[in-house]
Amino acid sequence: MNVHFGAIETRDDPLVLGTDPIPARYYYDPEWYELERKAIFMRTWLNVGHVCELPETGSFVRREIEFARASLLLVRGKDGTIRAMHNACTHRGTQLTDEECGKRPTFSCPYHMWTFGTDGALLSAPDFERFDTTKEACALRQVAVDVCGGLIFINFDPQQSLREYLGPMAEMLEQLPVARATTFHEYVYELDANWKMDYDNFQENYHLRFIHPRSGGAGVWPGNPFGYPSHFSLNGRHRTQTIWADPDAEIQPTMLDVYKRSARRLAADGILDHPLGREYIALFPNLFLFCSPGSHFLHTVFPLGPEKARGVIRLYWIGEDETASTRYAREFAMAQIRDIHSEDVGVVQAGQRGISSGALEYLHFQEKEILCRHLIKVCEEEVEAYIKANGA
Ligand code: FES
Ligand SMILES: [Fe+2]
Repeated sequence: MNVHFGAIETRDDPLVLGTDPIPARYYYDPEWYELERKAIFMRTWLNVGHVCELPETGSFVRREIEFARASLLLVRGKDGTIRAMHNACTHRGTQLTDEECGKRPTFSCPYHMWTFGTDGALLSAPDFERFDTTKEACALRQVAVDVCGGLIFINFDPQQSLREYLGPMAEMLEQLPVARATTFHEYVYELDANWKMDYDNFQENYHLRFIHPRSGGAGVWPGNPFGYPSHFSLNGRHRTQTIWADPDAEIQPTMLDVYKRSARRLAADGILDHPLGREYIALFPNLFLFCSPGSHFLHTVFPLGPEKARGVIRLYWIGEDETASTRYAREFAMAQIRDIHSEDVGVVQAGQRGISSGALEYLHFQEKEILCRHLIKVCEEEVEAYIKANGA
């Protein structure tokens, strides 16, 4: 498979972003949170699902987007198009459904039975002649939506198209196995931490040898005792790193069977030798993908407040579980991620409590935590641009 990274800018200089300490208030100050909410989350492209969730006409999923106070319905219409529509009846606002997902030919409001099509058009409304409006004016309100690499992105106020936003990362996404995924496992969690505190925990390997020896998630070898990535790239708002792996490492005997079963399945999908198999890809602001040979791991972190976040972890798969071995291998992969993550949650929340105490004016990132530094730098730039254009 040919992989062209286009204009992706590769920088191996870990000091390219400088060494300044980071203002601690970025992680708890309500005013800074509000700026991030308006400057970043309300106007960038955010991954909220995958096309495999909407296989047929009328398939829908509901997504609660707390930072926007929005409930959205992602729906595949008769024309095959995926739309994102506010789950708010245009008569008097009633939410049309509280179902998480399903399949419907139409959406009828329970209050006065206005009925909408899968494209959001108002199809019928009892005694509509008594209103002084038109059906066209009463279509469901839509939010911008687009798809890249099978991933569904929404944007409340697009400043540019999804393709422009992703730049050369779009081509990379389309080559990943996740673009062909047909199913997934999901694990959703909430924690008492700023969204960046949670996200940063997955952007650095500095903590691995201290936090993860029990679960086997330490990724530590004699040649690379901190399990640092072998390479990183910065590309505009986005960034990647290549996860280092010891080619001579022996898999724990207890894991061997499960890896073999998983590997056989993945080899059949042509994934094991995928050229991006060790790439960790962080798409600003809140998604990263790590489509390793073992699993196609995606993680999105949504802000719920200055000191609260929700993470959505998904393992995407190609093809249904055809055998008990495949089923077991997939369940095991998710169980292992949950096990490793259970070790992270405590330290992330402890970090938040320390920062939220106001005791620290600054935090520090070392050179191998450059991805965390880059996230902060991009947030600062986005907030600055927003204030310049709109005022604080
Ligand atoms: S609020 Fe939906 S029909 Fe009245
Ligand atoms: Fe961790």
